[in-house]
Amino acid sequence: MQISRIPSGIKGLDPLIEGGFPIPSIILVSGSAGSGKTTFAFQFLMEGARRGEKGLYISTLSESWEWMIRFMSSFDFFESEYMEDGTVVYLDLGKDLAEMNEAKILKKIREVIAYTTPQRIVIDPINVVNNYVSNYRQFLFDLVSLLKEWSTVTLITGEVKEGEKYSVDAGYTADGIISLIMRDEGDVIKRYVQILKMRGTAHSLSLHPLEITNEGIEVLRARF
Ligand SMILES: Nc1ncnc2c1ncn2[C@@H]1O[C@H](COP(=O)(O)OP(=O)(O)O)[C@@H](O)[C@H]1O
Ligand SMILES: [Mg+2]
Repeated sequence: MQISRIPSGIKGLDPLIEGGFPIPSIILVSGSAGSGKTTFAFQFLMEGARRGEKGLYISTLSESWEWMIRFMSSFDFFESEYMEDGTVVYLDLGKDLAEMNEAKILKKIREVIAYTTPQRIVIDPINVVNNYVSNYRQFLFDLVSLLKEWSTVTLITGEVKEGEKYSVDAGYTADGIISLIMRDEGDVIKRYVQILKMRGTAHSLSLHPLEITNEGIEVLRARF
């Protein structure tokens, strides 16, 4: 059976993954600080919004809506109207993580999904949750089970240390793993992307050069 897919919104990425992310799926976007995870996530949500799909962005960092809009507005792909008219809903989970237990956090996520019925969900970044819950692996397992009740594509971002490709904890339940890499090449740090896993997909395994410009993230042709 042919798998349905949605375009990622990242220029140059879809040809490497048979046209887009499988529906439904949970994709881990992993990378060190500044590798482009949040930019990737909003590009994905904005692509959906332009196609009439609803999106839900869940921040684990207590970053305000205004803060995010200010930074993301430097990109051409970002249209704040979609945040204002409710096409893309912004949920700040930062405070709840500090105050609620696992069951309550999951309940809140379930409720906001049921209420907004998004086709695209982002949780950015997931690793922060590890500071708050007593059993992170169990939480991830329960979160993934919850997400699988819906026919959505969920991007979960994970921050890793430089040189690390992805976190095993968040990776083992994901249907796809995309690694955003910043490599120190002497005088310059270069950006790459590598698809480590994409269930149901004959995907590239190469290291592809990546660029972040005013237009957002673009995957360039592989040199290898
Ligand atoms: N308008 C822009 N043009 C080019 N590069 C940008 C622009 N805005 C941000 N960047 C680059 O993207 C990086 C931020 O990416 P971000 O998505 O916040 O990373 P992460 O979420 O992985 O920490 C910045 O550190 C900067 O290098
Ligand atoms: Mg970020």
